[in-house]
Amino acid sequence: MNESDGSDGYAHLFADPVRETMEGAAYGTWRAITAPDAVSLAFGFPYPDALPNGAVGDAVDTVLEVDHEDALQYAGGDYADAITETVVERTRARGIDCSAEEVHVANGATHALDTVAQTFLDPGDTIAVEAPTFMGAIRLFRNYDPDIEGYAMDANGLDVDAFADDLAAREEAGDPLPKLLYTIPDFQNPTGVTLSTERRERLLELAETYDFLIVEDDPYGQLRYEGSTPPPLRSLDEDGRVIRVDTFSKTIAPGIRTGWIVADEAIIRELDRINAGGENVLTLGLVARYCEAIDFEANLEELCAGYRERRDRMLETLEERMPSGTNWSEPEGGFFVWIDFPEGIDAEELLPTAADEGVTYLPGSYFYHDGRGDGHARISFSYAAPDEIEEAIAALARATRAELPAAEAADD
Ligand SMILES: Cc1ncc(COP(=O)(O)O)c(C=O)c1O
Repeated sequence: MNESDGSDGYAHLFADPVRETMEGAAYGTWRAITAPDAVSLAFGFPYPDALPNGAVGDAVDTVLEVDHEDALQYAGGDYADAITETVVERTRARGIDCSAEEVHVANGATHALDTVAQTFLDPGDTIAVEAPTFMGAIRLFRNYDPDIEGYAMDANGLDVDAFADDLAAREEAGDPLPKLLYTIPDFQNPTGVTLSTERRERLLELAETYDFLIVEDDPYGQLRYEGSTPPPLRSLDEDGRVIRVDTFSKTIAPGIRTGWIVADEAIIRELDRINAGGENVLTLGLVARYCEAIDFEANLEELCAGYRERRDRMLETLEERMPSGTNWSEPEGGFFVWIDFPEGIDAEELLPTAADEGVTYLPGSYFYHDGRGDGHARISFSYAAPDEIEEAIAALARATRAELPAAEAADD
């Protein structure tokens, strides 16, 4: 087992999708984008003070005490059972009609998306995604060997007219229609933009007309720093077309790995069956206990204050420092700003200069299923402190100027 193709001789034993994606970087390789003296804007991590270590510790103590020996048993104790009610409550708080039978609990949104993909995608099926989109989703969809079709975004989210035109053209030509549309409607990762209400309604009509399901991935919807909240797709869904994925990663902590799916009962039954046996019952217990013990809405307000300050500092500094010809999104919530560099700048090539100047980010190409996006970068304001964000954007501006063709840099 030691051959020279990089597989150490195991390739013939790997499943087809594994063999076909072996060349690709492992998920998490982006974590290597750091530099000792640079501020990282690469991570979509919550800032350290956002993480409720104390309250989570108290919740664990309570679960162990109250559920006693059941807390660590296969099925868990009462608190583990209570997680479904907790999720129903959180979902109703978003204006979504939801019963316990419409909930599937998972180990985070990534795991939930994987279960959806496993349940619906056969090799060669078509899945529609936003272009750009969350790189973790692209990676896991690829494991199921589908045909991934990307659709353009603008300041109001997915360009639903262009999507509709393509669906009509596909039908006319007898080409395959998507089984699933994967969308991040609120403060999208990586662009930060939000899908307008009108487009949400139109998407639901399209799903009914062309018989596909909408996977609504909404980790950021409650982290809104200004403006009004459009209704979640699932709240507008009268025909059972929406599979909604949510997570506590951004509202409690990513390390608790707890997310969920809300969908029609017939779908939930299959998700439960496909994914039997994988629940982390101690964690589910502590999440239920944590939600019972804290004022969730007040906590959200505090989180929003912390993120709002960081977003504002990032947007102000971009305005002050970046050379003309640079554009960026202005998100009303979430974690991310999407940079559109001036003509001639390649974000991947710029990265070493940027790291030397004192900032790292993720190049835009990481977020396209087909490697486009050279002229873009995702910068995150979620993790660094406000002063660090200011330094980081000043560093990004210096790096961009240094790489600009000489004549343009002189104009600034
Ligand atoms: C759009 C989107 N979906 C899912 C996730 C992952 O969520 P979880 O930590 O619950 O797996 C993220 C986190 O970065 C995300 O941005």
